[in-house]
Amino acid sequence: MLPQDTNTDTLPGDNADGANGQPEDAAATNAQPGDEVAHPRRIRSFVRRAGRTSSGQQRAIDDLGPQFVVPYQAEPMDWAETFGRQAPSILEIGFGMGETTAHIAKLRPQDNFLGCEVHEPGVGALLKLIGENDLRNVRIMNHDAVEVIAHMLTEDSLDGVHIFFPDPWHKKRHNKRRLVQPPLVKLLASRLKPGGYFHCATDWEEYAHQMVEVLSGEPTLENTSQAQGGFAERPDYRPVTKFEKRGLRLGHGVWDVVFRKK
Ligand SMILES: C[S@@+](CC[C@H](N)C(=O)[O-])C[C@H]1O[C@@H](n2cnc3c(N)ncnc32)[C@H](O)[C@@H]1O
Repeated sequence: MLPQDTNTDTLPGDNADGANGQPEDAAATNAQPGDEVAHPRRIRSFVRRAGRTSSGQQRAIDDLGPQFVVPYQAEPMDWAETFGRQAPSILEIGFGMGETTAHIAKLRPQDNFLGCEVHEPGVGALLKLIGENDLRNVRIMNHDAVEVIAHMLTEDSLDGVHIFFPDPWHKKRHNKRRLVQPPLVKLLASRLKPGGYFHCATDWEEYAHQMVEVLSGEPTLENTSQAQGGFAERPDYRPVTKFEKRGLRLGHGVWDVVFRKK
């Protein structure tokens, strides 16, 4: 999770302004003309924050961005061409500062990872990690994942989906902004290949239950866990982040949810 609190009280859904004082649509989308998902009324899972990009992150964006950042376009992406090889395709939504993404990509060099993140300093941070670790199997979309999934990913094309510590939008009136809800889960399930996995994790208990409930409600998915509550053991590839370690020390729980496409 990012150190910043994204659960701001001033939400674009509540008034006309985004978190940084811009009208939401100008602030919250790089959408192309004619892109129907950029409808002004669509509820977004994020608020663009005016976070500062450090000089190291900016350098990484300038030096490595052209090679590793994939421009958004409302047409299907060719994974083999984008990565320069054919390999299992994993999508990550909201990688934050990218520590987990880089860790997993290093651990699983046989897989291709496409990470979506709207927060520019996070994009710079992951590019820096790509450079430091000489990772070749990561590509970044600095764009709303919902639009990427809808327009750039084709049916039965993904081997896995990662959503780690999505913003919990913990206030009741903000719950509608949560990512893990039936329409997105349905869309993602359609993008998974049969046998592909859907892995979410959260430290917000009520959201953890929502994840199990929503994923269980999608008829093309099945839970990999038979445990009570439907939660899975943390798969070994998902590292325990600094943030998570601190939470665990304070007695907070973390829940992993892993489903598979039938
Ligand atoms: C709470 S952070 C978690 C970051 C990271 N996964 C972690 O475990 O530390 C959630 C991130 O999701 C990003 N996000 C939310 N909705 C998104 C969307 N629709 N597309 C891309 N990124 C999104 C936010 O910008 C934020 O950085």
